[in-house]
Amino acid sequence: MVIKIRNVTHTYSPGTPWEFTALSNVDLTINEGMVLGLIGGVGSGKSTLASLIAGIGTPVTGSITIDGSLPHPGKNVGILLQQPEEFFFENTVFADIAFGLKNMGLTEHEINKRIDSTLDMIGLDHFVLDKSPFHLSRGTARLAALASVLAMRTKYLILDEPTVNMDSKSKKKILGVIRNLSEKVTVIYISHQIHEVSAISDQMCVLGHGRVLFSGSTPKYKQWAFKENKEDLLPVIDQVMYGLKELGMDVNTDVLGLDDAVSNIQTALKRGK
Ligand SMILES: Nc1ncnc2c1ncn2[C@@H]1O[C@H](COP(=O)(O)OP(=O)(O)OP(=O)(O)O)[C@@H](O)[C@H]1O
Ligand SMILES: [Mg+2]
Repeated sequence: MVIKIRNVTHTYSPGTPWEFTALSNVDLTINEGMVLGLIGGVGSGKSTLASLIAGIGTPVTGSITIDGSLPHPGKNVGILLQQPEEFFFENTVFADIAFGLKNMGLTEHEINKRIDSTLDMIGLDHFVLDKSPFHLSRGTARLAALASVLAMRTKYLILDEPTVNMDSKSKKKILGVIRNLSEKVTVIYISHQIHEVSAISDQMCVLGHGRVLFSGSTPKYKQWAFKENKEDLLPVIDQVMYGLKELGMDVNTDVLGLDDAVSNIQTALKRGK
């Protein structure tokens, strides 16, 4: 079970003076059960690729298949768009989440059950259901938007910068939800926060001006970013560990966080290496 992106090129406004090629010859395979971190600079094509995988638009050339079928939003793939709160349109959170489920043909009983279990999945209090989505705190609004997408129960889920503009408490909560989700769904996680995305992802894909600059496992990604001197693409802890290794210190570069890094350095120092 897999998403196959083959030789995808996408051009906006072709044949006009505004013609712009946002993706060029993108090849990528996203296996079921993984978290793929999709990163790259501003305007590198992340959201364009995300939309095409989500079936919002079709690539000008090349193909995208999900388990052998074309992408169908809400059916085989769900997407949490960048700034999803801008897309609320109903009077209550319940109505907003229920909208997509009604379109799927679920009964009222099934919709109620589905919404309850989705809120439980992400630890969102049920009292928000009667509230206006426009009057929620930012963190709660983001979780409510995530609930709308999750309620569809698609096997593949794309999250386009889900933690952007969130305070640190909401960020932690959202990251925790994504971590738990990744046991059940395959997640494509787009972010500019390199320490967040590399900590959560099994595989990484780096876009630059619409092209794939790197794709592979997260440890291989870190080696690549260090070798290529892409300091902005490597969390500070990893920069330190790779730097020490290069200076000849016998440290493990695959550390889990600050505590792990410190104990690794202490062990190497005790060994006198
Ligand atoms: N509808 C559109 N029409 C024309 N050009 C577009 C359109 N949408 C995006 N672009 C251009 O395509 C390029 C890729 O945009 P995209 O939004 O995919 O980048 P991104 O990597 O998601 O950037 P960001 O980090 O800012 O979210 C940018 O140069 C952008 O200006
Ligand atoms: Mg974007």
